[in-house]
Amino acid sequence: MTSPSQPYYESDRAIGEYLLFHFGSPMEQCSFDQGPVQALNYPERCVSQCLDTNRLRNSARALDLGCAVGRSTFELARHCQEVVGIDFSHQFIQCARQLQQSGSLNYRYVMEGDLTQEAIAQVDSEIDRHRVTFHQGDAMNVDRNLGSFDVVLMANLIDRLNNPKQCLQSLRELVLPGGQLIITSPYTWLDDYTPRDRWLGGFQQAGQPVTTLQGLKNHLEADFQLLQTLDLPFLIREHARKYQWSVAQASCWLRR
Ligand SMILES: C[S@@+](CC[C@H](N)C(=O)[O-])C[C@H]1O[C@@H](n2cnc3c(N)ncnc32)[C@H](O)[C@@H]1O
Repeated sequence: MTSPSQPYYESDRAIGEYLLFHFGSPMEQCSFDQGPVQALNYPERCVSQCLDTNRLRNSARALDLGCAVGRSTFELARHCQEVVGIDFSHQFIQCARQLQQSGSLNYRYVMEGDLTQEAIAQVDSEIDRHRVTFHQGDAMNVDRNLGSFDVVLMANLIDRLNNPKQCLQSLRELVLPGGQLIITSPYTWLDDYTPRDRWLGGFQQAGQPVTTLQGLKNHLEADFQLLQTLDLPFLIREHARKYQWSVAQASCWLRR
């Protein structure tokens, strides 16, 4: 379990929570009839609802920044020849690599207190796992040897970065002209992750509210055209009787 000094995304609790969030069946994720079923399968919907597959060339390459345990990375491989998933968490990348190699992974998620439930995460057998690789790394300092991409997905990442502007600045090089950038986030800005003076939005400036979407536009519009925004609800299960229901805003951009 998490020690006081252990980062959350390296903890056993986070591993169970994210394997369930990414690969759990609807019943495993939420067994209550009253639950918000539209909020399930978020990592799959970040791809199926946001990616414009008509714009992809046959040999498209994709990058999933902050991929966690990798569900969206595998989903991108339905449409792209090569997909790279990068996450800062060594534990998440270890899980993702095991899923890539064997197609499944046994794990446990919390029911109540110390009680846990055994489950199996499985990659859809229709997905060609050979197209996918995972690397531990920093989204604010991506290895340039990885090259440039037709698709870059950043799902629920931007408000977890220490310096989101640094990451946005690197996207000009990372996304090929004509390529797609998909940013999804509930914009949950927290000092613990991002110093307040580096937030992209969620504050007043000269007496006017600045939203994160406006902040994204300010930083991206020189190189990217905003194609669409959409609301993507998602449900993260903390334990059998406690859930976080959030609504991310997805913004889909075309590299000029
Ligand atoms: C809120 S989770 C979202 C994960 C996944 N994209 C999803 O939608 O489920 C944030 C993820 O970003 C990762 N992360 C945080 N800072 C990072 C950084 N500097 N570089 C790469 N990944 C980072 C965390 O380890 C975690 O997996």
